[in-house]
Amino acid sequence: MKIGIIGTGAIGGTIAKKMVLAGHQVSVSNSGDFKKLEDRADELGASPKMLEDLVRDVEIIIISVPTIAIPSLAKTLFDKVSQETIVVDTSNYYPFRDADIEEIKYGKAESVWLSEQIGCPVIKAFNMLLAETLVSGGKPNGAPTRIAMAISGDDAKAKEIISGLVDEAGFDVVDAGDLESSWRHQPGTPAYCTELNATELKQALKDGDREAAPQIRDSVIKIFMERTSQPSHEETIEINRSLFPKNPKTA
Ligand SMILES: NC(=O)c1ccc[n+]([C@@H]2O[C@H](COP(=O)([O-])OP(=O)(O)OC[C@H]3O[C@@H](n4cnc5c(N)ncnc54)[C@H](OP(=O)(O)O)[C@@H]3O)[C@@H](O)[C@H]2O)c1
Repeated sequence: MKIGIIGTGAIGGTIAKKMVLAGHQVSVSNSGDFKKLEDRADELGASPKMLEDLVRDVEIIIISVPTIAIPSLAKTLFDKVSQETIVVDTSNYYPFRDADIEEIKYGKAESVWLSEQIGCPVIKAFNMLLAETLVSGGKPNGAPTRIAMAISGDDAKAKEIISGLVDEAGFDVVDAGDLESSWRHQPGTPAYCTELNATELKQALKDGDREAAPQIRDSVIKIFMERTSQPSHEETIEINRSLFPKNPKTA
């Protein structure tokens, strides 16, 4: 498929590499000058494109930038996107990084807000596994310890197509429901960055507490900021799991 990825950082870059490996035609864009973008695209095996060119003539657009950058991706950019193009949102809102976005702060699901900002329906995917999990935690379909990824969105056909990409990236897929339900795999929920298999993830998605999630999200950041050393990947996962007594991996 023709996939355009906005953002070539930890997540966008990893998705780009994996999709190139899976045989897709991948183009990328970021916020840097075109020379830097060319170098990064070269590393990823993708084609560098200006944003305006990237959004045309692709079947899937994956937005993988910090939430604070979303308003700068003008609606006019997405005016050019055909209705058949599937738009995917990988983002997570962190107030310490993304400043105050009142609507999200007062409970709007992050991807619903993003969808309104860009004026297009979106599928939320690739947001609830750490970059390191995405890089090295993938396994072939059928592997007994395969990690699962949640996706949400309002269009069943689009979710099926994106689920295919998630599978190619090495992860099982759990459908968390419509876009409004995507809060169930946002930061501060038991599904978020806890590396669960599909059965466990289904339960974790049910166990989320929408009202408590923002406060839990911020408490995790506080734990990480108060540490004198950077936690390892395994420690990060353990900290995330330990916040939820009902988390199936915690018992
Ligand atoms: N890191 C994780 O473990 C993780 C896991 C799941 C989801 N996420 C979420 O996924 C999103 C991306 O995270 P990340 O870790 O990949 O971030 P990152 O490493 O900081 O990369 C962000 C990318 O966005 C690009 N960018 C920023 N503003 C832009 C703009 N206005 N137009 C075009 N490109 C722009 C940057 O361009 P330059 O390269 O030119 O700076 C960079 O390539 C975030 O919302 C994050 O919360 C992250």
